[in-house]
Amino acid sequence: MKNEIKVFAPATVSNVGCGFDIMGFAINKLGDEVKIKLISRPEIVIKSIKGDGNRLPLDPRKNTVSIAVSAMRKHLKQKDGLEINLYKKMPMGSGLGSSAASAVAGVFALNALLDNPLSNEDLLTFALEGEKITSGGIPHADNVAPCLYGGFVIVRSCNPLDVIKIPTPKKLYTTIIYPHVEVITADARRMLKKHIPLKKAVVQWGNVAGLVAGLMSENYNLIARSLHDEIIEPVRAKLIPGFHKMKETALNSGALGCSISGSGPSVFALSTSKETAEKVARSMKKVLSGMNVESSVYVSKINSRGPRVILR
Ligand code: HSE
Repeated sequence: MKNEIKVFAPATVSNVGCGFDIMGFAINKLGDEVKIKLISRPEIVIKSIKGDGNRLPLDPRKNTVSIAVSAMRKHLKQKDGLEINLYKKMPMGSGLGSSAASAVAGVFALNALLDNPLSNEDLLTFALEGEKITSGGIPHADNVAPCLYGGFVIVRSCNPLDVIKIPTPKKLYTTIIYPHVEVITADARRMLKKHIPLKKAVVQWGNVAGLVAGLMSENYNLIARSLHDEIIEPVRAKLIPGFHKMKETALNSGALGCSISGSGPSVFALSTSKETAEKVARSMKKVLSGMNVESSVYVSKINSRGPRVILR
């Protein structure tokens, strides 16, 4: 058995508009790489964090990757310790599931290194342990689940965990724009209203059901009609510079829908071709440039695969 492995886990868009805390999808290109090495000292050490993660603590009690692999190591009663190197290949605090990608890359890497003793369902439990520190202790699996399973994933329940991967419509592309401002997930959760008028809840349920049906039947029109968030987006939009203008221009450029990625500040749109997704990217970028807000844009197919071993 080799004693070292490197894994890539993808960035994710959670909520997907109307599916607050219960839905997400994985994207290509952006993500985290984690290298794990078995060591004889029975401890977990984060040796380095490179890339966009230089603000993260090396303290293993404070990083999602070490918390997740530590929970897994205890479960497996593993005697060896672990040395972790983390390479952040995506922006942190961007609403693209950066902490989830670290946790998933970690548990996937350890499992692969040990010749896969655990199922994805088990791995999800441990990845979620890591993710809890980002949301003030309240578990939400809408980043870790799509990161681990790839594609579009529904989190029917977090306790007990019950997740369902649904098919990805073939033509879908996503555009993501990350305005360079900071949004702290825990703060963006605290600002949400605790009670929802029944009328709004009914509209939201209709949209979630429509979105799932649209994705499963590859009905792009239905996806477009359903990608509306009555509850969270109106509250969080104020955290994102130019949100309403970006959304308007994305829809005018041909996107099926547009909303906040996770707790923001990134904004995502879905389109049915690469050309449209690129046009959407240009139009959203123009809005932010006009406001003197720096941003990064990405166009990607949906990542149906999830994590992958890149070095062993
Ligand atoms: N569903 C979560 C939220 C994702 O919107 O707060 C953020 O990690």
